[in-house]
Amino acid sequence: MTALSLINVAKSFGDVEVLKDINIEVEEGEFVVFVGPSGCGKSTLLRVIAGLEDASAGEIRIGDDLVNTTPPSKRGIAMVFQSYALYPHLNVRNNMSLALKQARQAKDVIDSRVAKASKMLNLEAYLDRYPSELSGGQRQRVAIGRAIVREPKLFLFDEPLSNLDAALRMNTRLEIAGLHSALATSMIYVTHDQTEAMTLADKIVVLRDGRVEQIGSPMELYNNPVNRFVAGFLGSPAMNFLSGDHFGKDPALTVGVRPESLALVERGGLLLNVAHVERLGGDTNVVGRVGGSQVTARLFGQHMIRAGGQVALAYRDADLFYFDTGGARIHP
Ligand SMILES: Nc1ncnc2c1ncn2[C@@H]1O[C@H](COP(=O)(O)OP(=O)(O)OP(=O)(O)O)[C@@H](O)[C@H]1O
Ligand SMILES: [Mg+2]
Repeated sequence: MTALSLINVAKSFGDVEVLKDINIEVEEGEFVVFVGPSGCGKSTLLRVIAGLEDASAGEIRIGDDLVNTTPPSKRGIAMVFQSYALYPHLNVRNNMSLALKQARQAKDVIDSRVAKASKMLNLEAYLDRYPSELSGGQRQRVAIGRAIVREPKLFLFDEPLSNLDAALRMNTRLEIAGLHSALATSMIYVTHDQTEAMTLADKIVVLRDGRVEQIGSPMELYNNPVNRFVAGFLGSPAMNFLSGDHFGKDPALTVGVRPESLALVERGGLLLNVAHVERLGGDTNVVGRVGGSQVTARLFGQHMIRAGGQVALAYRDADLFYFDTGGARIHP
C-alpha cells in the first residue's frame, strides 16, 4: 500500500515558485531520502507534507485520504527538525510525553510509550535530566523519541544529524537505520549528505531547483543517473567530467568517469598531473588535472605518488558515462 502520494504538487511564495510539479510515492514501511543542494526546496516539501505550509497546487494523499486541508496534528505525521527544539524547562520524560498529554492520552499509555521509546533510544538513564544537561547526540535522540511516542504513520526528518560531529553522525545514522527496521514505519529523511542518502535509503529522490531530477534506489541512481547533475551529486569523491576529446570522442560531449573506475597503469589512458595526494590509509585519492579538467582517482591501498608528478590512469569503456551539452545522459 502507498503511505504517501504527492501528485503534481507545487508551492509558491508570492511570485517565486519553490516547488514545481512534484510527483513522489512513498510505500508502506519505505525509507525515502530527499537530497539536493541548499535551497532546492527539501524543507519546504517536508513542511508541505506535514501541513505546516499549504500546497499551491496538486494533491497530497496519506494512504487513500486527500489531506490538503487536514491540519498538521490530524495527519498522523511526526517531524524531527535539525534544531532539536526541545523545551528547556521540561526534563526528558516530559519533553517526550508533552504531545501525548496535549492529545489527552491516558497516563498509563503515555508511560508505556515513553518507556518503550527511551529504551529503543538508550535514553532510560536520562529521563530526569533537562536538555541543558545533555550532549548534542542525546538531545537529538530525545527529539526523535518525541516523534516515536506519537506512533505516527509517517516520520519526517529534516537533516537531523547536521549538528553532530562525524563520529556521532555515523552512530546516529546506524541507530536511525535500526529504528527504521524496528518500527517498520515509512520515513522521509532530508539530507545534504550523500553518504547518509546512499546508506539509509530504500529510495532516493534527487531534487534541484524545486524539481525532481530522478527517483530510484541508491544503486540505480549510482549506476544509471539520468543526467550530469545526478551523476555528480551521488558518489564520493564525485564523478569526474572531462571533454570528449580525451576519449577520442566529439569535444562537445562530456564524459563522466568515477574516481573508483580509474586504475594506475604504466602508460596509456589519461595522463594526470598530480596536485594533491590524500592518503586515507585504506585508499589513496589522487587529485590533479587532465587538460583543463580536475580529476580525482580513488586508488585502493597505499601508493608512492607525489604531488608535482604525473601518473597514467586506465579505465574501462563500460565505466564511462556520456552527457550532451545540456547535461542529459546519452548513449552514443
Ligand atoms: N517562507 C518563505 N518565503 C519565501 N521564500 C521561502 C520561504 N521558505 C523558503 N523559501 C525559499 O524557498 C527555497 C527553498 O527553501 P528550502 O528551505 O525548502 O530549501 P532546502 O532545500 O531545505 O535548503 P537547505 O538545504 O539549505 O536547508 C529557498 O530559495 C528559500 O529561500
Ligand atoms: Mg532545509
